[in-house]
Amino acid sequence: MKRLAVVGIGRMGARHARNIAKGAIKGAKLIAVCDVDAQKLKDFADKYKVATYNNLDDMLAKESLDGAIIATPHYSHVKLAMACVDKGVNVLVEKPISVTTKEAGELIEALEQKPNVIGAMMFNQRTNRMYRKAKELIESGAIGKVQRVNFIVTDWYRTQFYYDMGGWRASWSGEGGGTLINQCVHQLDVLQWLVGMPKSVLSYCATKNRNITTENDVTAVFRYDGFDCVFTASTHEVPGTNRLEIAGDKGKIVVEKFKMTYFLNQKSEEEINNLSTRDYGNKQDKKSKKHKLSYGLSRIIYDGVYGQQARIISNFVKALESGNKDDLVAKAEEGLKGLELINAINQSSWIGKEVDLPLDKEQYAQLLAQKIEEEKSIY
Ligand SMILES: NC(=O)c1ccc[n+]([C@@H]2O[C@H](COP(=O)([O-])OP(=O)(O)OC[C@H]3O[C@@H](n4cnc5c(N)ncnc54)[C@H](O)[C@@H]3O)[C@@H](O)[C@H]2O)c1
Repeated sequence: MKRLAVVGIGRMGARHARNIAKGAIKGAKLIAVCDVDAQKLKDFADKYKVATYNNLDDMLAKESLDGAIIATPHYSHVKLAMACVDKGVNVLVEKPISVTTKEAGELIEALEQKPNVIGAMMFNQRTNRMYRKAKELIESGAIGKVQRVNFIVTDWYRTQFYYDMGGWRASWSGEGGGTLINQCVHQLDVLQWLVGMPKSVLSYCATKNRNITTENDVTAVFRYDGFDCVFTASTHEVPGTNRLEIAGDKGKIVVEKFKMTYFLNQKSEEEINNLSTRDYGNKQDKKSKKHKLSYGLSRIIYDGVYGQQARIISNFVKALESGNKDDLVAKAEEGLKGLELINAINQSSWIGKEVDLPLDKEQYAQLLAQKIEEEKSIY
């Protein structure tokens, strides 16, 4: 049995801790929980008989742990994870890995210094079978060369009531961003996992219809070699959309909410174009079948969102058992990529220019510090 602890038992951490305590994660046992909120510790200990700590260092000094899950507000992730790594305790870090790639890089370096310590990311959407199928179709070449990507993510609706509950959310000083770092971190990870990192980012971010300082409305263009991606996100519209469309020269993938449809063409677009003797690609031409623009195959796959986080914790435990980082769904260093996209989108919008990747980490850290300073005059 792997001995686990959860650091931060708020909304998400408490769910992780309950899952482990109730035996939902095979091969794992909940040994302790840690939170700075005494009431949360008491409430949890009343239900589940585990040790409680209000300080991570005390927990690490007293308990013999195989792994810790860090589920605290964003700015504390790196510091808490590094304390675990320092003591040789494997870590699973909630998204985002950190607020800046500058700070996240320090955790990755600390992990590199301790090759036997496993660092993992809670990128639970990577367990979604629709995205896994999309990855397979892209990597096998089934849809051909990617020509265009559109990702619309406007279904993380949040009210003013949500923001008024206070705490660390939707501020530069408390959270390090808004919809991008809190919600879209999932989709931006999926995007880079499927089609890689772009060469540059141009974006427009805004705060619409809510009394918050961070962005809740985003339009970004990612430029890749050979194609572009338009990424649109908001948390203020109803009904929202969650739609990923990846067009290749041999087919197309469409993931909308819980349903994925993919089309594999009989011929590549180049062949259709070269062979066609009609202006619209002979789409309706029943006689000259060899020129037809028909889909050779179209399939539908469904998946939901439930249980994804538990799957990642199970995967973390499996990697602890095998001692092999390659068994992880998402290694810690994967957290840097989506975060770099988030930082780049913010930076481009702030300076009003396209920014090249890799991003200048120092410059982003300085610009964020300025945002935090400006925010002081508002709150
Ligand atoms: N994977 C997902 O789908 C998902 C969903 C929601 C939230 N999250 C992530 O989980 C993390 C926590 O979010 P939440 O919604 O549970 O927040 P929350 O505010 O409900 O909980 C955070 C908890 O951390 C505690 N805490 C703060 N500083 C601490 C410290 N230094 N040591 C110990 N405990 C400390 C707080 O007291 C609080 O109980 C964030 O990174 C968030 O982005 C992930």
